[in-house]
Amino acid sequence: MGRLAGKVAVITGAGSGIGRAAARLMSGEGARVVVADFDAEGAKETARLVAEAGGTALPVTVDVTDEASVADLIAAAVAEFGGLHVLCNHVGGTNPRTDLDLLRMDLAEFDRAVSLNLRSTLYGARHAMPHLIRAGGGSIVNTASVAALVGDVTQTSYGAVKAAVVSLTKSIAVQYGPQRVRCNAIAPGAVLTPALEDNLPESVVESLKAGNALPYLGSPEDIGHTMVFLASDESRYLTGQLLVVDGGMTAQSSAAPGRRAMLPG
Ligand SMILES: NC(=O)c1ccc[n+]([C@@H]2O[C@H](COP(=O)([O-])OP(=O)(O)OC[C@H]3O[C@@H](n4cnc5c(N)ncnc54)[C@H](O)[C@@H]3O)[C@@H](O)[C@H]2O)c1
Repeated sequence: MGRLAGKVAVITGAGSGIGRAAARLMSGEGARVVVADFDAEGAKETARLVAEAGGTALPVTVDVTDEASVADLIAAAVAEFGGLHVLCNHVGGTNPRTDLDLLRMDLAEFDRAVSLNLRSTLYGARHAMPHLIRAGGGSIVNTASVAALVGDVTQTSYGAVKAAVVSLTKSIAVQYGPQRVRCNAIAPGAVLTPALEDNLPESVVESLKAGNALPYLGSPEDIGHTMVFLASDESRYLTGQLLVVDGGMTAQSSAAPGRRAMLPG
């Protein structure tokens, strides 16, 4: 029996990257997955990959910044599979070219970041909640970022809205814990997805590696496995928490790489 046998999971942003990996891993553990993405072709491709591996997936086109679209997504999931147990609010991000420092940041980008990362999470949780309660409990997994925990020279909007996602996660956990709905967040560190590879020069990728305690960057599956754990009943005593999955990036002192280089032999 899979760790998610009998569960129905909605995953937003499942048309590529981490969301696609999560959909495939959750399906591999027995969940029926609703693969939701703005990119219809990406969602269909993820659903095809799931079906090819013997799983069941429903691709749905959604714009998570539009509450009516999110409501339609949740309704489609329940209509197709008869209920809902897991919601992964995974879509997020900002444009690194316009999400700059305080004086140079584009305020329109800030508003977009609120919409794409924070409002989307709120919409998903609000529309899923009655179904999760009806199912006797469930799990919401929100995607934050290490940017919620540490300051940076740019990504002013990104860090602020991801920190707000963590706060929202705790409120949801406290408010709906009595109905056995858990809500946790994941803070990925640097993960090699198309989003990262397309936007960052090779030199920055190398410096990200040097900033990790582990000598490599994460894969989409590394985050997907954590999402499976949080979706499953194995984490039944875990709620309102932020799991940092970052290769030790935020555990490491800024002096560590230099000290490592000075170690004898
Ligand atoms: N990749 C990393 O290193 C990293 C690190 C920390 C946090 N994260 C977080 O992980 C999440 C996804 O990142 P990823 O790297 O998998 O990105 P990605 O670009 O590979 O995937 C994002 C998906 O979201 C979809 N999407 C974009 N706007 C949408 C909208 N309005 N409605 C519906 N779908 C939409 C895209 O089509 C895409 O398929 C984000 O919340 C991001 O902030 C990523």
